[in-house]
Amino acid sequence: MFGKNKKHTYSSGPRELIVEKQPKSPISEQFRTIRTNIMYSSVDTEIKTVLFTSASPGAGKSTMAANVAVAYAQSGKRTLLIDADLRRPTTHYTFEATNQRGLSTVIINDMPAADVVKETNIENLEIMTSGPIPPNPSELLASRKTSLLLKTFAMDYDIVLIDTPPLLAVTDAQVLSKIVDGVILVTNVEANNRGHLQDAKALLEKADANILGVVMNNKNMGRSKDEYYYYYGSE
Ligand SMILES: Nc1ncnc2c1ncn2[C@@H]1O[C@H](COP(=O)(O)OP(=O)(O)O)[C@@H](O)[C@H]1O
Ligand SMILES: [Mg+2]
Repeated sequence: MFGKNKKHTYSSGPRELIVEKQPKSPISEQFRTIRTNIMYSSVDTEIKTVLFTSASPGAGKSTMAANVAVAYAQSGKRTLLIDADLRRPTTHYTFEATNQRGLSTVIINDMPAADVVKETNIENLEIMTSGPIPPNPSELLASRKTSLLLKTFAMDYDIVLIDTPPLLAVTDAQVLSKIVDGVILVTNVEANNRGHLQDAKALLEKADANILGVVMNNKNMGRSKDEYYYYYGSE
């Protein structure tokens, strides 16, 4: 969608936020649809913490988490985007923020979360970058401190979106999927491997995760209105 599709003038860099820069484009509309689907995916319990993951790297998790976060913020919701990909973090690039302190610092150094959360130039949107890459990401994410942190954030914000590493590579996302309200599984259409997707889904089910939906991301599809869509929901 970025640059390749001449119909859209969006070509100035892969990490730019299309929902911020081109809110009226059909792609931005797709991100808003994902937001709406998350909002209404659960009738009984309010969804406050949502994790984005995929089977393999490069599926578009970070792109989707960041754009859906902007879509939430634009709808007036107090939104927090957390970069819990403590292996290949990108949120600080997307929002051109520093990353000396972030999630890893809060967990390891007992630093107050409020000192680490950063405002962005988008109203209602705050971010917590990854912080320096630790040697033991899974251990940090499985800690009591992480789950307490998420509980606190769920009270402080209307919605908390969490970017994570791929499921089949490391246990991080699986561990986190147990303590969030819902999970969005992102899959890249080109590299779509049914087996991998099923393995990823099985890992989430094993963790008793609440899979809200699977989003297909097609980087090269010409008709941009179809670039993101829900593949299926869990219910
Ligand atoms: N729909 C899309 N169209 C074009 N490029 C995309 C799309 N989704 C993601 N990308 C690009 O593909 C790369 C990988 O996406 P990213 O969101 O970082 O994936 P992940 O976080 O799953 O590894 C990035 O350079 C991103 O800008
Ligand atoms: Mg990523």
